[in-house]
Amino acid sequence: MKPVKFVHLTDTHMNAPGKDGQFAKFQLADKVVQVFRHIEETGIAPAFVLITGDLSHEGDAEDYAHIRKLLDEGSERIGAPVHVVLGNHDHRGPFREGYLGEQPSEEPYYYSHTIDGLRLIGLNTQVPGSHNGNLDETQFSWLKQELQTPAPKGTVIGLHHPLLSIGGVLGDHILANREQVGQALSGTDVVAVLAGHVHSNNIGLYHGVLNVAAAGTAFAGEMADAEHFRMVDACSYNIVSVSPGEGVSIQTVALPTSGTEFFKFSFAALATQH
Ligand SMILES: [Fe+2]
Ligand SMILES: [Fe+2]
Repeated sequence: MKPVKFVHLTDTHMNAPGKDGQFAKFQLADKVVQVFRHIEETGIAPAFVLITGDLSHEGDAEDYAHIRKLLDEGSERIGAPVHVVLGNHDHRGPFREGYLGEQPSEEPYYYSHTIDGLRLIGLNTQVPGSHNGNLDETQFSWLKQELQTPAPKGTVIGLHHPLLSIGGVLGDHILANREQVGQALSGTDVVAVLAGHVHSNNIGLYHGVLNVAAAGTAFAGEMADAEHFRMVDACSYNIVSVSPGEGVSIQTVALPTSGTEFFKFSFAALATQH
């Protein structure tokens, strides 16, 4: 069977132009435009693009309307659909209003689409009012039901909070009920779980299933010294290729940036801010 190639980006932390805010001043939406240009210029021709949350940084409906416009233009440019999930910095009401053009509500946003034989399941692990992630009972039951029928080329899952811990100071930035979810995915047709949130690249197995956290387009997190963590200007995305019956390849593409330090936190401050 023909491989399916798609692009995974995450943690775009975008705002509409002219907004105030901690991240708005860095014009992070420009980096997403740059990524779509790069995908087009390098001829990747992905089947789809998946963005695993923190679409906006504390965004309102205006921010989400801007993000939708920008992603629609990107989708047009590369000739492939864009699918998104929500992260801890996203808000369901403004997302539904500005991005989906619906009445604002706190309903979780999750879905299953089959594209070129590969099933993409997007989950809403963002919990309103919290930075921590959890998969609620309704979604968990739906997910288990959905996975009872295998897809022709397998399944990939997109969510914001990783199942696999990166350890160190961000070691607890994981899905609260990862153990139950990880066990439920084991032995199914799921070939990869794609996440963000930790702003660094981390690839490994969790309950025998490939789990990937990507660094994202906005900034990368790294140790500054023994007591501080910092966010630096960085921009990367992953090309994921699923070859049914053979394996999965993850290729990270890093675009040139200044590498400037955006913020530096003590570990104690980081624990409260995420
Ligand atoms: Fe983030
Ligand atoms: Fe996050």
